[in-house]
Amino acid sequence: MAHNSWKKRLEGESRMIASFYDGRAGYYDAVVHLLSLGMDRLYRKIAVERLGLRPGDRVLDLGCGTGLDLALLSRKVGPKGRVLGLDLSRQMLHHALQRVGRGKHSNVSLIRGDALEIPSRERSFDAILCDYLLSTVPAVKVIEEAFRVARPGASMVFADDRLPSGWFASPLRATGEFLRNGYFNTSLPGVDLLRRRLSSVTITNHFGRLIFILSGTLEA
Ligand SMILES: C[S@@+](CC[C@H](N)C(=O)[O-])C[C@H]1O[C@@H](n2cnc3c(N)ncnc32)[C@H](O)[C@@H]1O
Repeated sequence: MAHNSWKKRLEGESRMIASFYDGRAGYYDAVVHLLSLGMDRLYRKIAVERLGLRPGDRVLDLGCGTGLDLALLSRKVGPKGRVLGLDLSRQMLHHALQRVGRGKHSNVSLIRGDALEIPSRERSFDAILCDYLLSTVPAVKVIEEAFRVARPGASMVFADDRLPSGWFASPLRATGEFLRNGYFNTSLPGVDLLRRRLSSVTITNHFGRLIFILSGTLEA
């Protein structure tokens, strides 16, 4: 019973998040490039580089959004590799699909799904990229799902901002919290779990420490 009500709550939240991104998909790329002063392109390159992909690898882009990372991933794994982009929002996926078509990335597939319940079998992927998703979801649950679908030894990269959770959806609420509490809660979501289960963990900071990129290898 308790499990069911928890699940219902999460499903409700997932619907809200999907509709939030559905409404913003058309200008998402422009906002990201503007807010990062164009630097997000560099951070994406760094994140993908840190996956250490090889030709033929199978890689999952969790919360792929409009597909800003898909071309980089597609080139790294080559024609024999596979890239799967998963996202909750139909509209974000619509833009990703157009991008994949324009770039003729025939090794990329897209799927609508929830990162809290990834529709893939255990040990399906050699690498997982999770760019700017953790701060919008129950991070520990998503990380556990990523561990489930990755093979032992898989490389993983989690990148996010250190802004208060939900700031993009409601900057006013984030500012209100700051005024009330006197600080922003900028702890890295799920970082303890990542440190426990990954080896060779590296965390780098970017954009005046507002952005972090965490990489590591899933232990057997
Ligand atoms: C901030 S955007 C990041 C998109 C992309 N990774 C990037 O780097 O531009 C967050 C994305 O995660 C998706 N998302 C949020 N919650 C999700 C969930 N539970 N499962 C799958 N995707 C989710 C949203 O629809 C949105 O496209």
